[in-house]
Amino acid sequence: MSILSAKNIVVSYYGDISVLRDVSMEAKEGEITIIIGPNGAGKSTLLKTLYGLLRPKKGSIIYEGKDITGLKVHEFMKLGLAYVPQSRTVFPDLTVMENLELGSWILRHDKKKVNEALDYVFSFFPILDEKKNDKAKTLSGGQQKMLEVGRALLTKPKVLLLDEPTATLAPMLAKEIYSFLVRLRDEKTTIVLVDQNVRQAFEIANYIYVLELGENSTQGSKKEFEGKLKEVIKDWLNYDESH
Ligand SMILES: Nc1ncnc2c1ncn2[C@@H]1O[C@H](COP(=O)(O)OP(=O)(O)O)[C@@H](O)[C@H]1O
Ligand SMILES: [Mg+2]
Repeated sequence: MSILSAKNIVVSYYGDISVLRDVSMEAKEGEITIIIGPNGAGKSTLLKTLYGLLRPKKGSIIYEGKDITGLKVHEFMKLGLAYVPQSRTVFPDLTVMENLELGSWILRHDKKKVNEALDYVFSFFPILDEKKNDKAKTLSGGQQKMLEVGRALLTKPKVLLLDEPTATLAPMLAKEIYSFLVRLRDEKTTIVLVDQNVRQAFEIANYIYVLELGENSTQGSKKEFEGKLKEVIKDWLNYDESH
């Protein structure tokens, strides 16, 4: 069943130039849906629109059967969506715990809930528990990414949107993030993943959307894509075969 979908959305940053021109996609409950495509295709724009950070000019965002287009970001959050942007968002001079506390402000009146949420995050990333009193800037790049993802998990989202979570990570750490995503899916969280590490993202995907120049290009289940992934990506500019 579809939990989150975009229907025929058009998005512009300014003027008449549309960055997304009639894009549709849906994320099925409990699945990992990946969005891939060359640089500048509009993947990040689509993710921001799915989280309410950008308002589409046309089209709609549907969540659990309701039209939520135009709601405020904090309302998207309350409904059960969480988003991890590509850019670094940890506060380097705050401790790991302080960074997590900032992510749990929505629960701040309920200490029990905050503690449960922290336990939930630490169950995925025990390293954050170990380092909870250390300043975030002393963490490795991979650990900082775990902190960002952990912070997004505090609200126990039903749908987690991630923009290139492994982009700057060494292969070993990237692997950890992918196994975390699989574990999270096993626990029934729906995941929408934008990724340039096409092969690794494909490995864990249930369904794949390819965006090109702000439009849907190809889409299909993992099975349907098996064997033709290479063909799909071979024309992308800047695509590095070693990814
Ligand atoms: N804040 C912005 N203002 C204006 N144009 C933008 C902005 N962000 C992205 N764009 C443009 O929108 C297009 C799609 O960008 P983006 O969604 O970041 O693509 P992708 O994530 O697939 O690389 C690009 O042409 C980019 O230059
Ligand atoms: Mg992007």
